[in-house]
Amino acid sequence: MVRLFGPLVGLFFAVALFWSFGNGAYVAMTEEVPETAEEMFHKHPEEVAFSFDSAMGTFDKRQLQRGFQVYKEVCANCHSLKHVTFRDLAAIGYNEAEVKAIAKQWPSKAQTFDPKTGDRGERTNLPSDPFPAVYYAGQGVPPDLSLITKARHGGPQYVRSLLAGYAEQEGYKNEQGIELLKKFPDAKTPDGLYFNPYFANLNLAMPAPLVSDGQVTYSDGTSASVKQMSTDVSAFLAWTAEPKLDKRKQTGWAVLGFLLFATVLAYFAKRNVWSNVH
Ligand code: HEC
Repeated sequence: MVRLFGPLVGLFFAVALFWSFGNGAYVAMTEEVPETAEEMFHKHPEEVAFSFDSAMGTFDKRQLQRGFQVYKEVCANCHSLKHVTFRDLAAIGYNEAEVKAIAKQWPSKAQTFDPKTGDRGERTNLPSDPFPAVYYAGQGVPPDLSLITKARHGGPQYVRSLLAGYAEQEGYKNEQGIELLKKFPDAKTPDGLYFNPYFANLNLAMPAPLVSDGQVTYSDGTSASVKQMSTDVSAFLAWTAEPKLDKRKQTGWAVLGFLLFATVLAYFAKRNVWSNVH
């Protein structure tokens, strides 16, 4: 009797398990998931071509200098660049005297700490110092920007779209013409946050930093539209995240060339070694 009972109990549980799995899978496949404001209104970054995109592409130093100017005059009020030192700027075309002057005039100072006395203080930045941390009193925590283009999907394209993509939420429609606040009245941007469809949850704590054309006066005469400034500073942040990009590509080509050469050599060596056998 027990012998019969054992397998029957097992069978019962097996059937119950399969039934619940099948039912769960069916519901998961057929059930309508309610749409969310983020799904319907979050936009993917706009496609723009950067000079360093392709396998042959290199950084445009003039653009990097313009981007640095935007960082210096606008973003540096809130964001640090702790992995970049002032003297790294030599790589984008500033000479030693310019680097020294930039470090010296930088408004936020390097922090010092004397382990003997426990005193904390400040001093003028040196070329070997990283771009210092900044105190930000507003809402939210401005992240360090050194690696931001690596840390976000879409990299510089995302940063560019984010900066140029602030919009008025009142009356905002997506590409299908659906109005956000009509469809989701609860999705109103909370106080202290700002609406931006390129940000994953549509609202972020950073007020639009680039708001008017000509906010920065470029020393090379390029006209500083909001889009131009956004593109330039994004290119600059792509450089801060990977300053050796040009070098890496050059090395890559040299390695490919060498591999090609080695392949040809190997082919002739094989022909030579096996020539008596054929
Ligand atoms: C008034 C201060 C302020 C200024 C100026 C500012 N930011 Fe921000 N930024 C913030 C704050 C605060 C956040 C955090 C936002 C959040 O997490 O909601 C932020 C976040 C960011 C992010 C991260 C967004 C993400 O996906 O998490 C990027 C990129 C960024 N800022 C770039 C810039 C650039 C480039 C500039 C200069 C053109 C700039 N910011 C100027 C305050 C500022």
